[in-house]
Parts: sequence; C-alpha cells; structure tokens
Amino acid sequence: MASSSPAPVRFLTGITTSGTPHLGNYVGSVRHSVRFSREKHVQSFYFLADYHALIKVDEPARIQRSTLEIAATWLACGLDPERVTFYRQSDIAEIPELTWFLTCVTAKGVLNRAHAYKASMDKNIARGDDPDADVNAGLFMYPVLMGADILMFNAHKVPVGRDQVQHIEMARDMAQRFNHLYGEHFTLPEAEIDDAVATLPGLDGRKMSKSYDNTIPLFAPRAQLQKLIAGIVTDSRAPGEPKDTEGSALFQIYQAFADAEETQMLRRAFAEGISWGDAKQILFERIDREVAPMREHYDALLNDPAQIEQILRAGADKARALSRPFMAELRQAVGLRNLAARDKAAARKAGKTVRPSFKQYRDKDGLFYFKLLDANGVQLLQSVGFASPQEAGRMIGTLRQQGGPALSLLAAQLEPIDNEGVRAASAALEALAAEAAGGS
Ligand code: TRP
Repeated sequence: MASSSPAPVRFLTGITTSGTPHLGNYVGSVRHSVRFSREKHVQSFYFLADYHALIKVDEPARIQRSTLEIAATWLACGLDPERVTFYRQSDIAEIPELTWFLTCVTAKGVLNRAHAYKASMDKNIARGDDPDADVNAGLFMYPVLMGADILMFNAHKVPVGRDQVQHIEMARDMAQRFNHLYGEHFTLPEAEIDDAVATLPGLDGRKMSKSYDNTIPLFAPRAQLQKLIAGIVTDSRAPGEPKDTEGSALFQIYQAFADAEETQMLRRAFAEGISWGDAKQILFERIDREVAPMREHYDALLNDPAQIEQILRAGADKARALSRPFMAELRQAVGLRNLAARDKAAARKAGKTVRPSFKQYRDKDGLFYFKLLDANGVQLLQSVGFASPQEAGRMIGTLRQQGGPALSLLAAQLEPIDNEGVRAASAALEALAAEAAGGS
C-alpha cells in the first residue's frame, strides 16, 4: 500500500526591516520559528517585510542595513534556505498587485479600527492635534499589505505576537470576502500564538522594543553585550539582601535563555542575596554561551552581503514560482483578462466551444512529457519529464479537474512560463474544467 504523507501545513512569517534585531526578537520570534521550520510536514515562508518598513522609516541606508542584518540573523540562527522559502517582500512583484485587489474588498471602516492607526490617531487627539496629523496612508493600509503577504502564499498559520492577531483576523475577512465574490481562491489563515514565548523586558523593564529605545542587540560584540547587561534596571538592594524575582527584568531575561534547573539556581541565589553585579555576570555568560557561535556566523555573513543577496534572489525565484501563476489566476477571476479570450459563458452562448487539448509524448531522453495546446494548436504549457506515462497522465487529470488553481500547485512539474503565458494557460484550463463540470 502506498503511504501518503499528510499535506504540509503552510506557515508564514515576516519581520519588518526597520531596525537591528535584538534579544526580544530572538526570544519572541526568531528562535521559535527557526526551530519550527525543521519540523516535518510544514512548509514555511519567511520574509523580510521591507515594504512595511517604508511606513515608518524614511532613511534609505537604514532600510538597506536592517534588511541585511535581519536576513543575516535568520541565517545565523539556523534557517535553512533550502528547506524553507526565504525571500524579501519587495522582490515579489505580485504582492503590491494583490494588495490592490484586497484593498478593493476591504471596508474602510474596518481599517479605521486597526490598532496601529488608531493608536496614532488617539495620540494626536489627546494632544489636541488634527487626528490625522503625521499619519501617512501607508499606516492606514498596513493591514491590507500584510493580508497580501499572507494570502499570496495561502498560508494556514501565521505565528505572531498578540498585538498582530487583529491583522490576521482582517486577512481572514479579506479572504472570505474575495472568495465570496470571485470563487474559492484563498485559504483562511489563522494566527498561531505561542504563549510559552515570552515578551522580553528591555533595559528599563518595559517590553524590549525599538520604540522604547531599551533594546540589547542580539549580536552586539561581547564587550558591548556585557556593558548593556550591566545597565539593566534593578532595585537598590545591597549585596546580602534577598532579591525579588517577581518584577525583576534581569530574572525574566535569564529565564528566557536558561533551562528549568538553571532558573531554579538563580532563584535560590536571589533569595540568598546575590549582588546585582554577580547576577548580571551570570546573565551575561548565559546569553553569551547561546549567542557566541551564532555571532561568529552572523559577522561572517555581514561581511559577505553578496552571498545574502544571492540567497534572497534564489528565494524570490522559488516564491514567485507560486505567486506568479496564482496572481494570473486571480486576475482572471476578477475580470482582468485577455480580451481575445472569450468569456466561458459568452462562448457557450455563441454555440462555440473553446477546446484546448493535451498532447502526451515520449522524448529522446526516454521520459514522458505532455503539452497543453490552445484551440489553435499553440503551445501553452510544457511539463517536465516523468518516469512513466501514468505519472504524466495523473498530472493531466489534476489539471483538467482543478483548472487554473492547479497551475500554482503543480508549478514544480511545469516548465516556467511568463505572466502572459500563465494567463493563457489558466484560461484554457478553466475552459476545460468548465466543460468537464458542465458536460455540455
Ligand atoms: N507586521 C509584522 C511586524 O511588524 C511584520 C509582518 C508583515 C508580518 N507582514 C507579515 C508578520 C505577515 C506575519 C505575516 O511584526
């Protein structure tokens, strides 16, 4: 009996390229998602959200630097670009296009209620300013761009912090609305919140965040790491006095890196009155032990940006093998179509049948191939070679049954085609599928 593995669950996550990765990013997101990417039956997508960065950052050099640093961080932490799809958002030309499609199915009132935009408004109102003062439309549209990131690759699960859950719900709404209007094209994504993943306190005890300027860069050189850790706020208890673990930023950061036993040891040391200086030294050594090997890799990557550029371009090719045919399908769905290709319904009315056809053959290399030809015999698709005619036949069956949507699913078994070609092939397959379903 042939055992079939379950269809992979698709995970997708992005990081905005507006700063230098810090310990909070590592503990809250990077560490977890890299571990996760190694599991079986997951297909994961990791990307650098550089379009999102433009909303907050207007310094080109900082965008470029941050993109490099975040890419290097992911790689240094063990993300394997062969296993996952690792890309830069702005390399995927289909994302802004999909953003527009989604913009047109999103209620403006829903965007009015998005947290990030509302927070800016509320701040202005509290100050007595115009509510929209210094608010760009990018901030307002942020959830739609994020929806396009997610729906472009039909992600099932999106691991995010609680602050992002609303955005995933909005993406679901967009998918639902679009599907309702144009047919089932999108998977409805779900937020995946890992409560075990702590939000890390920063130097001042508030959540570690660029916006509070209280971060410890993940790959700060050893000496700087030590100096920053020395600056973590503590209370003023003297050496010998018992210390509270509750509410201690130092203890919480330690806990995020240490195992249960190590944590227990520090808890005891606190009770026994360890000095803050010694506690900080323990924290420094614990973090450095985990980070040092990755730091070396990170520094090497930063010194070779061309290699990262190449990895990202290869990732974009892999991503676009999915996004290009999918976008062609969506264009077809909403009515952005080749005018010479008749609408199915119209063609039927006119008593004509658009009848593309498949042609199977064996080539000199001994492998089995097929082509899809349009009604005029023009080649639309060319398969890769298969070991048996049955395999080729099965794939033709899938294409016949599922029509255009199958194109993106089966992209790996087809020779690459450009947008125009995808559009034509998609239209031909839709025609065949409609014929098969309608029977007339
Ligand atoms: N908004 C996310 C953040 O700032 C980054 C992001 C952009 C993202 N697009 C995404 C995360 C899609 C998950 C899925 O953290």
